[in-house]
Amino acid sequence: MAGKPPRGYPGARAQWRALQTLIRDRFLLEALSPLREDAGDVFFLSFLWMRVAVVAGPEAARAVLVTHRHLFSSRLAADPVARLMRGGMLVVDGEDHDRARRFAEPFFRPAYLEARAARMQAHIDRWIDAWPDGGVVEMAMAMRRMALEILLEVIFGLPPRVAESMAEPLEAARAYIAPGLWLLFPRLPRPGYRRSLERLDAQVRALIRQRREDPHSDDLLSAWARMPDMSEEDIRDQMITLLIAGHDTVAMWLAWTIALLARHPDVQDRARAEVQEHLGDRAPDPESIRSLAFLRAVGTESMRLFPPIPVLNRRALAPVTLDGVSIPAGTRVLVAIYTIHRHPKLWKDPDRFQPERFLSSSSEWEGTSLRYLPFGAGPRFCIGAPLAKLEGFMALARMLQRVAFEPVPPAPRPRLRATLDPWPGAWVRVRRIAPARFYVPWTGHELRRRNP
Ligand code: HEM
Repeated sequence: MAGKPPRGYPGARAQWRALQTLIRDRFLLEALSPLREDAGDVFFLSFLWMRVAVVAGPEAARAVLVTHRHLFSSRLAADPVARLMRGGMLVVDGEDHDRARRFAEPFFRPAYLEARAARMQAHIDRWIDAWPDGGVVEMAMAMRRMALEILLEVIFGLPPRVAESMAEPLEAARAYIAPGLWLLFPRLPRPGYRRSLERLDAQVRALIRQRREDPHSDDLLSAWARMPDMSEEDIRDQMITLLIAGHDTVAMWLAWTIALLARHPDVQDRARAEVQEHLGDRAPDPESIRSLAFLRAVGTESMRLFPPIPVLNRRALAPVTLDGVSIPAGTRVLVAIYTIHRHPKLWKDPDRFQPERFLSSSSEWEGTSLRYLPFGAGPRFCIGAPLAKLEGFMALARMLQRVAFEPVPPAPRPRLRATLDPWPGAWVRVRRIAPARFYVPWTGHELRRRNP
């Protein structure tokens, strides 16, 4: 009889179950659960000549991201994301990372963001008002454009027409960094992306040059442009990093949340009743969304089930032991946020959409362990989390005031791209429940549409 495989190596039966799950769901992250059940919270995943270590439990995640983070690098130089972002803070380590992050941090503080909440709201309202009553809308695409406009204006001081010209090259950049064959063949040329990526580069550089001629506004792009020791190349790297990390993530969170609301009318009704009770018809603002406990629980639960960044990538710089499993230096280490968020020992009914679990202060998710980490942890904790939450909750509250969502088949399934995307899209029917308004651009002032 074959002996039990060494710790960290799933047995043949678990591998078979994982393969069946993969064939059934066509989603790699779902297939990790049978492997974790068998091998524990840290295990190796092998395919052809590729071998990666998967971290699927909170304690090992804490070791990688917080306590033993100096043993891991975020820079996987051959990965498309590092080729695209080059010196961007997401893909560099050490002093380079800390310096870039320190410089950008003031632009993500609540005081800076909340002063721009009315402008965010104007973008949100324009998008909601454009949805036709009774029309079917694909929310992933719609939210991508909305989040891009908000990011461009709030962080870079750029108007929505920039979003129009950037949408296509950014879409290509998303496809370029999505997991694919490059994991097995990192040197494989990918000429199909060249033109779009060059266009993105050229657009970003043109915006930097323009801003350098008049760098006096109070946004991050102007602050970079005023720095004598920041080259065009440096600004390009940080700007492309924020463009990629800062809009698709928020958009996928909102798209999944809307899809869940459409499929759980009881939750949608309760969230809307809360918004109506606290806000009535008043536009959401930073203060008022703090009082929307149930809506916040809905958004939190949606990010548990469908974390926009479902996996974090690291490389072990030295041999390290995680959860009793020895990991050789050089191994790619994947922190599987998706799998941790659905760990049956950490969550009751882990696959169920149940916002109530985030309502009470003694709820099951609180504590010191990293069982909930949609924004990562440690010094690389998402710099944009305050912006994501502010715009996300303001958008959801406003949508609930103005429209109702109804499900449109098929129900979306998670698909691993640059983010965790709903596939084949987050399609919902939109029913208007309050009159649309017209907005005076850039002022945040609204004019009610008159009855005909
Ligand atoms: C719901 C929305 C978002 C989610 C779920 C999310 C998730 C994450 C996660 C998991 C990380 C950690 C990456 C790692 O450890 O390797 C991260 C880092 C980062 N995020 Fe976000 N993010 C969101 C929104 C944003 C926004 C709005 C921005 C900027 C405008 C942003 C910019 C960044 C940057 C620059 C980093 C790297 C930080 C560092 O390395 O110090 N993110 N994000």
